Amino acid sequence: MINFALIPVAGRGTSLLPLTKSQPKEMLPVADKPIVQYVVEELITCGVNRLLFITGNGKTAIENHFDINPELIEYLRLHGREDELAELAFEREAAEYCYMRQRYQLGLGHAVLCAAPFVGKQSFVVALGDTILGLKQRSMIVQRMITLYENCQHIDGIIAVDNVLPYEIDRYGIAIQGRTIDADGTFELKDLIEKPAVGSVQSCLAVAARYVFSPLIFDYIKDTPPDENGDIQLTDAIRRMLANGRKFYGVTMNQSERRYDIGSFESYFKAFADFAAIAKV
Ligand code: UTP
Repeated sequence: MINFALIPVAGRGTSLLPLTKSQPKEMLPVADKPIVQYVVEELITCGVNRLLFITGNGKTAIENHFDINPELIEYLRLHGREDELAELAFEREAAEYCYMRQRYQLGLGHAVLCAAPFVGKQSFVVALGDTILGLKQRSMIVQRMITLYENCQHIDGIIAVDNVLPYEIDRYGIAIQGRTIDADGTFELKDLIEKPAVGSVQSCLAVAARYVFSPLIFDYIKDTPPDENGDIQLTDAIRRMLANGRKFYGVTMNQSERRYDIGSFESYFKAFADFAAIAKV
């Protein structure tokens, strides 16, 4: 059973400056928790508890957040502050936390490639550290993807997708659907188009920040040329695999599994407002 995930958190977060000048985007609060804590809790709920963060310059707050802080625990216990103590329960989740650095921020594909020597020959999950899935309940899509992957010996990866509005497709990687595998929204992936012009493709299925990969992806990332901004894109590596006859499936998020991709102030404020509205205060 796949229980290992890479969580890339090394990006510059330039879209949220000045907020992200000296604090990681993935540590921004959404109501009462930082973004990346939601990601970790979702993965653990899906049975994925070996977590390798790909961090970078200025991201040590993430490591500190998942460390156990015995002094703080002792202080809260001594003062009988049980409610606050309960808020630190996530520190004791049965998970292994590992960290490695992406020394040059050369794009998401490159961030994933950094982990190749540690991943070895196992298949693994990639969960982007700046995207929360699920509002009132945690999304179980990663578990569905793992089950599907393990039941289909002949595929090299699975991507999660989410339905977006037709005028929003130019903000996302858009999946082009091939053969339907299951009426629940599982399909064979035909192609991926990065930020297509509105109206240029029929599909509204946006790539939704969760993936399952066989280790073969590393061979393809290695040979993927950087884009015009110098970034090695994960999407380009997947496209090259598809072009080479490799098989990927897409799994569509349920209506109840809300996606919050914290990539702009608009999406950040929306996420904060939605989570604050249901937070216990
Ligand atoms: P994004 O491209 O959305 O994040 O990457 P970014 O680069 O931080 O954003 P902007 O464009 O500068 O505002 C999605 C995820 O991949 C990670 C990011 O940390 C984010 O969680 N990432 C991105 C890396 O780990 N390394 C990279 O080189 C790029």
